[in-house]
Amino acid sequence: MKILVLTGSARNGNSSKLADAFIEGAKEAGHDIRRVDCAKLKVNGCLGCNYCYSHDSVCCQKDGFADLREDLIAADAVIFASPIYYYGLSSQLRAVIDRFYAIDGKLHAPKRTALLISLADDAEETAQPAVIHYKGFTGYLGWQDAGIVIAYGCTAPDDILKTDALTKARELGKNI
Ligand SMILES: Cc1cc2nc3c(=O)[nH]c(=O)nc-3n(C[C@H](O)[C@H](O)[C@H](O)COP(=O)(O)O)c2cc1C
Repeated sequence: MKILVLTGSARNGNSSKLADAFIEGAKEAGHDIRRVDCAKLKVNGCLGCNYCYSHDSVCCQKDGFADLREDLIAADAVIFASPIYYYGLSSQLRAVIDRFYAIDGKLHAPKRTALLISLADDAEETAQPAVIHYKGFTGYLGWQDAGIVIAYGCTAPDDILKTDALTKARELGKNI
């Protein structure tokens, strides 16, 4: 399977390690992986101008989104790895997701998907808004959820090493 992993943190911390662990497992299973760190891409938010409607699903904004557009369409699975920022996914990842709009018609396809998130809090309800968002837009696109890994209590970049979340992410990668 072609797997696209989209990460949302600007630092090499907890959610980046979740992505690494997932990729390790998926590579072991023989999948073809591309990882895109959205924070390095410089992707603007969607303008809602509908230029894409009349221009063959091409966005009027010429920025980092163009770099992942074709791989996103071709992917058999799309994985989201993000820290929780103010009860949601990071804005760097959100910007990329909102830009799905231009190619929305091409993304309604039988893909698999998964969510990997880390947060400082220990409370389940703090992660839930991001989980609901993920389930909402992936369900709308007709993608099949393969699993969700949530790493609680992760404040410093290496806190995740004290949890079992990396083992879970590696297993998810193997079984995607
Ligand atoms: C801007 C910002 C907002 C945050 N908001 C929350 C939050 O609402 N709830 C929470 O539990 N942790 C919050 N955190 C903590 C991060 O989610 C946590 O440290 C996470 O593991 C960071 O992931 P990373 O190491 O991959 O960057 C926030 C951190 C930052 C920098």
